[in-house]
Amino acid sequence: MGPMDINLIIEHLKTNGITITLKSYHEIVNGQLPSKDIPIIYSFSQRPEIRAYLKDMATFLHTEGYQLVPSLEILLCHENKGYQELVKNKYHIDDLNAYYFAEIEEIKQYDLKYPVVLKRLDGSNGKGVFLVEDEVSLIKKVNSLTPLYTSSQKADLMRRKYFRKEKSYKEYPNYNNKNDLEQYRKHIKEHKRFVIQEFISGLDHDYRVLVAGDRYYITKRHTKDDFKASGTKLFDFDIAEPEAILAFAKEVHEKIDSPFLSFDICRKGDEFYLIEFQGLHFGMNVVVKGSGYYKYEGNGFTFTTQKPSPEETIAYGLANHLNK
Ligand SMILES: Nc1ncnc2c1ncn2[C@@H]1O[C@H](COP(=O)(O)OP(=O)(O)OP(=O)(O)O)[C@@H](O)[C@H]1O
Ligand SMILES: [Mg+2]
Repeated sequence: MGPMDINLIIEHLKTNGITITLKSYHEIVNGQLPSKDIPIIYSFSQRPEIRAYLKDMATFLHTEGYQLVPSLEILLCHENKGYQELVKNKYHIDDLNAYYFAEIEEIKQYDLKYPVVLKRLDGSNGKGVFLVEDEVSLIKKVNSLTPLYTSSQKADLMRRKYFRKEKSYKEYPNYNNKNDLEQYRKHIKEHKRFVIQEFISGLDHDYRVLVAGDRYYITKRHTKDDFKASGTKLFDFDIAEPEAILAFAKEVHEKIDSPFLSFDICRKGDEFYLIEFQGLHFGMNVVVKGSGYYKYEGNGFTFTTQKPSPEETIAYGLANHLNK
């Protein structure tokens, strides 16, 4: 799907009683700020420099007490499964045991029950998600997630190894170039941060639920060759007992409280687990390819066969949130 039509979103917001003043990010960044009681709505970018720019903007606005929609918290969760675990814990959405690490040695201090699911922070389509059977495989896998040294670090190591004159220091009698190099090599060694989750075994599908205000879109995604339902492109809208899953999504949505949220949920018996969530820049397949949405009305969910555009869906979520 291409980018959304902002003017269409603004039009739909207008029909919901919300007036928008359009500003470029550079205008906000360079000081054209609204008063603090006016919410600032923004979206996000996949381009790394733009992302960093918007993150600077959002961090500043949040720190200075402006109202950001979605919140800074949601932005920090964007393509960061590690930060998502912090937020899940904060709201006690913690049925799925999970950990977030930066050093592989640290896992030894935790009583992990193998097998576990290892995740890179920023993967999608199941690409950075692995099932590991034991500690040895976990360590190996984490180390293999990234080249241990960047190319400039490799060049630096080469220089230290081959192009340095032998030195000695009165104050450090044990110094020699070789030891120094080994110490330095260890010091700069890094791997990607990672998340470990309890493995929910025996599932052949998960659910993608998109919530926009009181509208709930749901699809079921099937696994193919392994335990992963994401990335297989096998999905359908034939869902038994959708109410139970939607009720869980509703509960989570109320805790995180953002205009729209996309959830990956799995169900095992009567237990529900939130695998991950996104509140910005998520897939719209469930809206575009489904035949309608569920709406929560007082005592339950009723299905409406209607297909609002992605723009209208986004506007609906925003309006619901802002009019609360
Ligand atoms: N803790 C878990 N236990 C069992 N299965 C899991 C677990 N975590 C993830 N999975 C399976 O692996 C798939 C991919 O996981 P996840 O959604 O975290 O990765 P992703 O690459 O971000 O996927 P997406 O394409 O949805 O963004 C899920 O769709 C689910 O089927
Ligand atoms: Mg996912």
